[in-house]
Amino acid sequence: MGITRVAIAGSTGSIGTQTLDYIAQSDGQFEVVGLGVGTSAQAVIAQAKQWKPKVVAVADEAARKEVAQALPGVEVVSDQAVLAELADVVVNGVVGFAGLSVTMSTLRLGKRLALANKESLIAAGPVVQPLRNIAGADIVPVDSEHCAIHQCLRSSIDSGREVNRLLLTASGGPFRGRSRESLANVTVEEALKHPTWSMGPKITVDSSTLMNKGLEVIEAHELFGTDFDDIDVVVHPQSVVHSMVEFTDGAVIAQLSMPDMRLPIAYALSYPNRASVPFGSIDWSTLARLDFEVPDTQTFTCLNLAYQAGRTGGTAPAWLSAANEVAVEAFLNGQIMWSRIPEVIDATLQQHDGLVPTIVEDILHADALARRFALQVLSA
Ligand SMILES: NC(=O)c1ccc[n+]([C@@H]2O[C@H](COP(=O)([O-])OP(=O)(O)OC[C@H]3O[C@@H](n4cnc5c(N)ncnc54)[C@H](OP(=O)(O)O)[C@@H]3O)[C@@H](O)[C@H]2O)c1
Repeated sequence: MGITRVAIAGSTGSIGTQTLDYIAQSDGQFEVVGLGVGTSAQAVIAQAKQWKPKVVAVADEAARKEVAQALPGVEVVSDQAVLAELADVVVNGVVGFAGLSVTMSTLRLGKRLALANKESLIAAGPVVQPLRNIAGADIVPVDSEHCAIHQCLRSSIDSGREVNRLLLTASGGPFRGRSRESLANVTVEEALKHPTWSMGPKITVDSSTLMNKGLEVIEAHELFGTDFDDIDVVVHPQSVVHSMVEFTDGAVIAQLSMPDMRLPIAYALSYPNRASVPFGSIDWSTLARLDFEVPDTQTFTCLNLAYQAGRTGGTAPAWLSAANEVAVEAFLNGQIMWSRIPEVIDATLQQHDGLVPTIVEDILHADALARRFALQVLSA
């Protein structure tokens, strides 16, 4: 087996740094050919000095100049889409809609996409789907739940016809069990205290509102072609069962491991083989219990909003995701209370124009329009 060339978009983030950590442990199986970031000049310079990529993409102009000066001989570009040209597999660890160009360019070039950036698939499902038919193009999910389902489906001869439903597990986030009233004044610090995972701020807030699970429901629909009626969410506070598939004969197959994102990252990089380094092995002598409960959708209404947008289809998921990004940023900046996040998204979705996208420009337009409405709701 030859060396696999890897490019990492979002290399300075939680997914990006864990990808590099896995690569460091995998005995020269992978070569890092590209790195991409938003603004973190010093961090990507340090990564580039260690990993010697051929290209570094930096979105922010000032940061790009700084990186170019520090890395003579390295091609420093603005466009993350370039990363796919040199790689066999691209890890999309960018946060938010900004990851769209990486998703599109990787599939267009017929490469494997190790997809953590769920927002691009959710917002642009209708224009991303046809790219999956390009020879060599493949999406291997990095999101732990979808990676689990991907693994469970491999146990089926005809997963398309034999699946009854997908069961996405959710930790429930830091506010599981709390009433709506008791959540009125929660702080950013409290929302960022995830009980089982250490992740970037946006996805951590999304976990606290259950929007992350809502986005994952749409992601599962896009990845596996499953109807929304056949995707259920089960709260499982220990985050050991990463998701499950129920087959037509009633059998349920689950994937279990301790919470460690390096397992799904390694799975996506090594696919179709298994990684040789184990992550998240379970110590069965200390694993006392596994609990399951239904999600509280009266308190965590974002989950309902996501199902609603997913069922509407077209550009509704793009609107949902864009409004959520605006609301979460406003919460993280101290502009709004946590409890206003679903209100902003709901009010934005009320304005959805019903556009059915056919080209990527339709998605860009939908994203921009939804952001504008969400900002209007914020300032009203
Ligand atoms: N973290 C997890 O465990 C986890 C699990 C499942 C799924 N995911 C998904 O993975 C994605 C990344 O999450 P994360 O937690 O790793 O986020 P994060 O820690 O906030 O890192 C985000 C990365 O994206 C880069 N970035 C931001 N804006 C950019 C832009 N405009 N152009 C290019 N790069 C940009 C950042 O660069 P700078 O450093 O320069 O800002 C950083 O490298 C999200 O879609 C998330 O939902 C994450």
